[in-house]
Amino acid sequence: MNVLVTGGAGYIGSHATKILLERGENVSVIDNLSTGYKQAVDDRASFYNIDIKDKQAVYNVLVKNKIDAVIHFAAFSLVGESMKYPLKYYDNNVYGTKVLLDAMVDANVKTIIFSSTAAVYGDHKKMPITEEFAENPTNTYGDTKLAMEKMMKWADIAHGIKYIALRYFNVAGAYYTGEIGESHNPETHLIPLILQVPLGKREFISIFGNDYSTPDGTCIRDYIHIEDLIEAHIFAMHKLISTRKSNYYNLGSGEGYSVKEMIEAARKVTHHPIKAVQAERRAGDPARLIASSKKAEKELGWVRKYPKVEDIIASAWKFHQKHKEGFKNE
Ligand code: UFG
Repeated sequence: MNVLVTGGAGYIGSHATKILLERGENVSVIDNLSTGYKQAVDDRASFYNIDIKDKQAVYNVLVKNKIDAVIHFAAFSLVGESMKYPLKYYDNNVYGTKVLLDAMVDANVKTIIFSSTAAVYGDHKKMPITEEFAENPTNTYGDTKLAMEKMMKWADIAHGIKYIALRYFNVAGAYYTGEIGESHNPETHLIPLILQVPLGKREFISIFGNDYSTPDGTCIRDYIHIEDLIEAHIFAMHKLISTRKSNYYNLGSGEGYSVKEMIEAARKVTHHPIKAVQAERRAGDPARLIASSKKAEKELGWVRKYPKVEDIIASAWKFHQKHKEGFKNE
């Protein structure tokens, strides 16, 4: 199959590219390298340094490579930044997706798997979060992703573009070889930041808040291994091609780990004492986010291979030891 991965130089897109290639698919990647790294893109993919907002260029890639399905990751994804620069997020995420869908309509490409987020749900007291929960984003990032999902719904009705939106919880870990992994600049995510301590790149990890209504007072999140996440995209793509029925699914583990538990797990994996320092709450952090992924398990036949957080951290540790400075664009 000929698959186009948008944002294929980013953390999640680069893993999708590599795993699709391993499965024998032909992969084309488009990425404007604004947050991604060329170095992360597997050489076997056809790489195009273009912006999804350039309709003609996207159309040309779709036609030239006879694309059967698009997996759409290209987006800005920092919650804090999205609150500071909301219009930047609407422009790149919402307008960019509009242009991509326009190009798909013109090129007659009717299948898209879409990278969505738990942030579409906003704050809920009851856990785990199922797909029945109301969508009520509390930040711009989540709101742009919800707008993108809605755009796909109407593009399906009007143009027959079928989509599956996958709402991720906390994606972490790295490809098992350690060749690619999570490399952001600046880094804001918990696991890579914790691992900077044993790498000697930071003195301590800050724990944002210790007075949440959780057993140890720190925030609880649902961590899912990047390889398991990509597997769900592949199942979703095949399901969509066979059923031609648009849908959306949560991707998480159903289990929550606190910030303190994650630091403890990282100490075990790295055999390093990892100094932790209590800090203020980070604005906008919900106390608990846990997904129910029963719908994906039942309907997509998705089974996680890496349910243990220690295994997720160990794979990230392997990557960071190999790439101490992360990725860089020349
Ligand atoms: N945390 C710390 N110290 C740090 C960094 C993070 O204590 O130095 C805490 C955060 O406060 C949070 C937890 O670790 O409680 C996880 O934080 P991350 O930044 O790793 O992840 P988030 O849960 O904030 O964000 C994730 C995705 C986003 C997505 C969001 C959906 O990374 O892209 O879930 O709610 F939007």
